[in-house]
Amino acid sequence: MAGGYKYFEAIEKNVGLLGVLTAISVMIGGLAEITPLLMRAHEVKAPIHVKPYDALRLAGRDVYVREGCYACHTQMIRALRAETARYGHYSTADESVYDRPHQWGSKRTGPDLARVGGKYSDEWQTVHLRNPRAVVPESNMPGYPWLSQAQVDPDEITQKMKVLRTLGEPYTDEDIAKAGAAVKGRTEMEALVAFLQGLGLTNEPLKTAAAPSASAPGAKP
Ligand code: HEC
Repeated sequence: MAGGYKYFEAIEKNVGLLGVLTAISVMIGGLAEITPLLMRAHEVKAPIHVKPYDALRLAGRDVYVREGCYACHTQMIRALRAETARYGHYSTADESVYDRPHQWGSKRTGPDLARVGGKYSDEWQTVHLRNPRAVVPESNMPGYPWLSQAQVDPDEITQKMKVLRTLGEPYTDEDIAKAGAAVKGRTEMEALVAFLQGLGLTNEPLKTAAAPSASAPGAKP
C-alpha cells in the first residue's frame, strides 16, 4: 500500500497535476453521460398528436424567447411527485421536437409553463402579462405592456416557416401561404398569449393521462 500512497501524495501536493487529472475524470464522466444521448437523438420522433406551431403561435414563441421568459420559467416538468401533482404528467422529449431551441430552462422563479395552456382565459393572460400584480398581488414577475402595441411581422414569420421546413418541420405549402394573413395586424401580445394557451395541449394524451403517483426519476411513460 505504501507505493500507492506515494502516488496519492504526489498528486495531492501538485496542484497542476491534480487539476489536470480532475479535468480528465470529469471529461470521462461527461462523455459517458452525453455520448449515448447524442447517438440516440434520432430515435426521438414526433408523436402524431404533436403538431408544429401554427404561424401565430410561432410568432408568440419568438416573443417568449426574445423577452427571456425562460430566465424565470421552465417548460420541463420533472418526474418528481411535487411537480407532477402541481403541473400534471412529467414532460417527455418527444413533446419538444418542434422547439428550436427547446425552452426547458432551469431557473424556477415562476411556475413551470409546460402545461399552462387552457389554465386561464386569454383575458387573464393578457392582463397578467401587462401587469402581473393586477391579478396576482404578490407577484414579482415584470410587466410587458409594450407587447400590446408591437405588431407581428408577417414576412418574417413566413420566411421563418420556410426555414423551419428545411430543418424538418412538416409545414405544407398551404400552411406557409396562409401564414402571413394569419398574423397580419396581430399584436405580439396576442401571439404570446396564443403560444401560452397551446402549451401542453398539443400532447393531449399526456395532458389527460393520470399523473404518475410515485416519484420516479428516469421512469418511462
Ligand atoms: C423575474 C422572473 C420572471 C420573468 C422574467 C417572467 N416571469 Fe412569469 N412568473 C413569475 C412568477 C414569480 C410567477 C408567479 C406569480 C404570478 O402568477 O405572477 C409567474 C407567473 C407566470 C404565469 C402564470 C403561471 C401559472 O401557472 O399560474 C405565466 C403564464 C407567466 N408567468 C408567463 C411569463 C411570460 C410569458 C414571461 C415572458 C414574457 C414571463 N412570465 C416572465 C416570474 C417571472
